Amino acid sequence: MIVLGSNSEVAQAFVEKCLQEGEKFEKIYLFTSNKETTEKFAKHIDVKFLQQSEIIELDLMKEFDCTKFEKIESNLLFCATGFLGEGTEEGLYDDKNTERIIDINYARLVHVINHFAEKMERRRNGTIIGLSSVAGDRGRQSNFIYGSAKAAFTAYLSGLRNYLFDKKVHVMTVKPGFMATKMTEGLPLNPKLTATPKQAAESIYKAYKKQKNVAYVLPIWWLIMLIIRNIPEFIFKKLKL
Ligand SMILES: NC(=O)c1ccc[n+]([C@@H]2O[C@H](COP(=O)([O-])OP(=O)(O)OC[C@H]3O[C@@H](n4cnc5c(N)ncnc54)[C@H](OP(=O)(O)O)[C@@H]3O)[C@@H](O)[C@H]2O)c1
Repeated sequence: MIVLGSNSEVAQAFVEKCLQEGEKFEKIYLFTSNKETTEKFAKHIDVKFLQQSEIIELDLMKEFDCTKFEKIESNLLFCATGFLGEGTEEGLYDDKNTERIIDINYARLVHVINHFAEKMERRRNGTIIGLSSVAGDRGRQSNFIYGSAKAAFTAYLSGLRNYLFDKKVHVMTVKPGFMATKMTEGLPLNPKLTATPKQAAESIYKAYKKQKNVAYVLPIWWLIMLIIRNIPEFIFKKLKL
């Protein structure tokens, strides 16, 4: 199994869920921009599940070369990579913030996913699970740089799913609503609309087993986004969302 964004609590809960369910992996490749914190998790799965893993450093904001990952293959890729950055008020005109958001959530990330997608295509076997966001469903004033990067990522995953369908590779887009993780620490999230990493992992695992194309972590977000997508633009532009 290949994990991108290994320090995400959702990624770690998903790995644990797979192992608890008895999924077998020759090795788990933990891609991370923060090796030290990932080591703790690698040790944890080694001790608890006797699962062999390898940590691979990858910081999308630094130069990287996918040919270095040539020997790494797997039929399951889980991508939890993401960066919220500053919202509109604080970050819209900050070029560094904008660049980081676009690069980590989309522009640089797709090179890495493409690299492993090609291998799966050649083997005619595999599943790619990508965590996008409901924020990509409609641009809102509070964080539309992040939302637009996620919109691009959602469109990328949709196109990849379409392209790989007859090559026997499945691509699942996950659109989490709120999740209580380090990304959202300190934000005033409504607990009824917020999933814990464990809840999110269970919901994603279920959707993975059902080979869903698009999955919402908490079903209520499907309804919320249906409403948000359908508000006429002349009303929507006046809302403070
Ligand atoms: N939390 C929410 O409410 C929420 C809502 C909607 C969508 N999402 C999406 O769900 C996914 C998981 O989010 P999360 O809540 O678990 O957030 P998180 O804890 O911040 O995890 C995101 C991970 O992305 C990786 N990452 C960040 N910067 C990177 C860089 N420069 N290079 C390489 N990797 C980098 C980090 O992993 P390493 O430290 O291992 O590199 C980080 O742990 C993300 O795609 C996020 O956008 C989250």
